[in-house]
Amino acid sequence: MLDTFRISVCLYIFVPAFISSTLAEDSIKYDDLDTWEAPPEIRNNFVYYLSGFDFEDRPIWIAETGKWDARKIFDAGGEQLKMLNKHIDQALYRYNQSLSIRSTPESPVTEGVVLLDMEGYDMRQLGHTRTIQWVFKKAHDVEVVARRMAKGFMINVNFIGERLINILKPVLGPSLARTDIYGTNNGTWIPKLLRHLPKESLPAFYGGSADFVPAAVYG
Ligand SMILES: *[C@@H]1O[C@H](CO)[C@@H](O)[C@H](O)[C@H]1NC(C)=O
Ligand SMILES: *[C@@H]1O[C@H](CO)[C@@H](O)[C@H](O)[C@H]1NC(C)=O
Repeated sequence: MLDTFRISVCLYIFVPAFISSTLAEDSIKYDDLDTWEAPPEIRNNFVYYLSGFDFEDRPIWIAETGKWDARKIFDAGGEQLKMLNKHIDQALYRYNQSLSIRSTPESPVTEGVVLLDMEGYDMRQLGHTRTIQWVFKKAHDVEVVARRMAKGFMINVNFIGERLINILKPVLGPSLARTDIYGTNNGTWIPKLLRHLPKESLPAFYGGSADFVPAAVYG
């Protein structure tokens, strides 16, 4: 607890300066996001997928963010970190592209749905300053794309995950306001998910159909 407290206090103080200094540097653009494939060690450890569509044909994206071990990538350094950044930029790009999949002139789809599974998130990530700095920086990119998010869900959020959410609040503010945050008791959140999302668009372990098949897996 003490540790996380110290980290969040420290972030609140230096983060505004950090953001303005990194935004300028973060102007690399890619032109191969349609075809590029991250190396397997990135894809297998930073899993996300298009699970299906909601009742209004909005794409539903699920990411197992609690298991995303960014710290390991920092420990590996250089090239791996570049790949991870690109992997995430590609996810955001695909999210954007997916809005048009079921969009028609009569009923345009302009927003999507995001579900982040925070299972597994722990102090190894939150307690590592450089990882948190990086998360903060990526959260800015996420926020830009999340303006086109109708509804968000974060599930399996433990108290360490709550700390992270508090740290990211200044960046994610408006999209967090459209996000329901649930703890680790699936009996609480499964009924709520099913109010918004069709069973056939959810894996069984999130309350979906036994024969669920994701629309597309990237990982
Ligand atoms: C997503 O689409 C919006 C609107 O077309 C655009 O402003 C934004 O740059 C796109 N973001 C990504 C990551 O492609
Ligand atoms: C909900 O969690 C319990 C306890 O961990 C587990 O036994 C059960 O299989 C879970 N339900 C679903 C639908 O995965």
